[in-house]
Amino acid sequence: DAVDNAPAIVVGSGYGAAVAALRLGQAGIRTLVLEMGRLWNTPGSDGKVFCSTNAPDQRSMWFRTRTEAPLASFLWLDVVNRDISRYPGVLDRVHFADMSVFVGRGVGGGSLVNGGMAVTPLRSYFAEQFPTVDAAEMYGTYFPRARAMLGVNTVDPAWFEATDWYRFSRVSRKHAQNAGLRTTFVPNVYDFGYMQREAAGTAAKSALAGEVIYGNNQGKRSLDKTYLASALGTGNVTIHTLEKVRAISRAADGTYVLTADRIDTTGNVVETKQYGCRYLFLGGGSLGTSELLVRARETGTLPALNASVGAGWGTNGNVMLGRANHLWDTVGANQSTMPVMGIDDWANTANPVFAEIAPLPTGLEHWVSLYLAITKNPQRAAFTYDAASGTVKLGWSAAQSAVSVGMAKKLFDRINAANATIYRYDLFGGAGKVFADDFTYHPLGGCVLGRATDDYGRVKGYSRLYVTDGSLVPGSIGVNPFVTITALAERTMARVLAEDTAP
Ligand code: FDA
Repeated sequence: DAVDNAPAIVVGSGYGAAVAALRLGQAGIRTLVLEMGRLWNTPGSDGKVFCSTNAPDQRSMWFRTRTEAPLASFLWLDVVNRDISRYPGVLDRVHFADMSVFVGRGVGGGSLVNGGMAVTPLRSYFAEQFPTVDAAEMYGTYFPRARAMLGVNTVDPAWFEATDWYRFSRVSRKHAQNAGLRTTFVPNVYDFGYMQREAAGTAAKSALAGEVIYGNNQGKRSLDKTYLASALGTGNVTIHTLEKVRAISRAADGTYVLTADRIDTTGNVVETKQYGCRYLFLGGGSLGTSELLVRARETGTLPALNASVGAGWGTNGNVMLGRANHLWDTVGANQSTMPVMGIDDWANTANPVFAEIAPLPTGLEHWVSLYLAITKNPQRAAFTYDAASGTVKLGWSAAQSAVSVGMAKKLFDRINAANATIYRYDLFGGAGKVFADDFTYHPLGGCVLGRATDDYGRVKGYSRLYVTDGSLVPGSIGVNPFVTITALAERTMARVLAEDTAP
């Protein structure tokens, strides 16, 4: 069979992958990026690249016949989800037995669908999670490098205080303060200058038009506009889309051999390709990379992978919930989709929680305060290979989610008590579920730094094989994770290019 060879291959095109592609390209190394999703640059029949959250179509979700939005219902009605046709849409929800994981699909990975919150973790917690990483170097060099490259900026505080679009945040801030809790501004990669022009009516609305989880048509500095644009600009990087890597092996001469299925927009495999490379960088995300390596170990194609591959997975303690406000506490019909504030109770050692104040942009006043809580849940799970089905399973249980709920509940019971408010029971399905603990936006771990890999992401048992994505993070980082993933990838690439690729 014809093997298409490249000096370096990067699997995926999310944060870790995009950093690898840029730094390899700048070093003059010819690099091929393989991404299972599509390139999001061509407008559909409505003139827009991405569809809106209010009227989702085939572009919204990865090969579905109905959307599966995180908020399933409103006033117990299934008003949120819509029938769609099967297509490689931008948001995927991957279902395991007791946990489902939202991930982005397309050139840019999670950066296409996420809330853009660009948070640097608390240094003490970073050091706790990564005891073998030099924190001084991370906070002095790699975090600043990541933030600059990602285009991180902050909302103008004066505009924040005055605008209708962040009334929902100010109401939640007041309620947190009434309970003696601290709030903090959260940086974002959405261009706040652009957002102010949206509000002024001088620019096309995106964050102010409900766009986020199915993609932003304007304003957001997703990876296709930052790292990946620069990577392509080096002239050394090529991206193949709609190609899913399904197997990795190593030839006798040390070449890594990848098997990839090329699909069409109906999902049919139209070609199976073989690629060879000397250097292999895995950036398929916590799920994608863990799946590839667990399968490679268990099917014997990379038998020297150690027992830590697949282990150390967590949800970053994610729980979503809503509170019902008093009638006089209106949150506003106008809500920006980009969160800019969090309730920071991480220093509370008895119950550490960082809760992002999330928007619920329906275009109508609904008196709901919505939150995505990040709790310090110590539970971890492992991926295992099911030989009968050839699939990888995740061992996370409902009891492990209950730990996150317990922590979120303690914090929000305090907030409800201080404000004489209650939870909303109608948002997460018909059973009156208050805490959405069965999905996560922040899958982390599976190939943890220093365990499945060395301290720089070099996979143990093999040379020239690297992990650069969220699977390196041991299940929890206490804040939204993409800045940490990007900074760790910068650190890996600096080391690898200095030490491993010398002629
Ligand atoms: P990432 O998941 O970004 O990229 C992996 C890529 O590899 C994908 O494009 C995938 O299609 C591709 N891939 C996987 N397997 C493959 C294979 N076998 N072959 C080919 N391609 C493959 N974080 C944050 O810091 N702030 C925030 O505000 C938010 N908000 C948020 C909202 C929503 C709705 C979601 C779903 C997620 C967030 N996140 C977030 C999380 C954040 O987006 C996430 O942590 C990062 O995207 C993870 O980056 P990685 O590099 O690990 O992989």
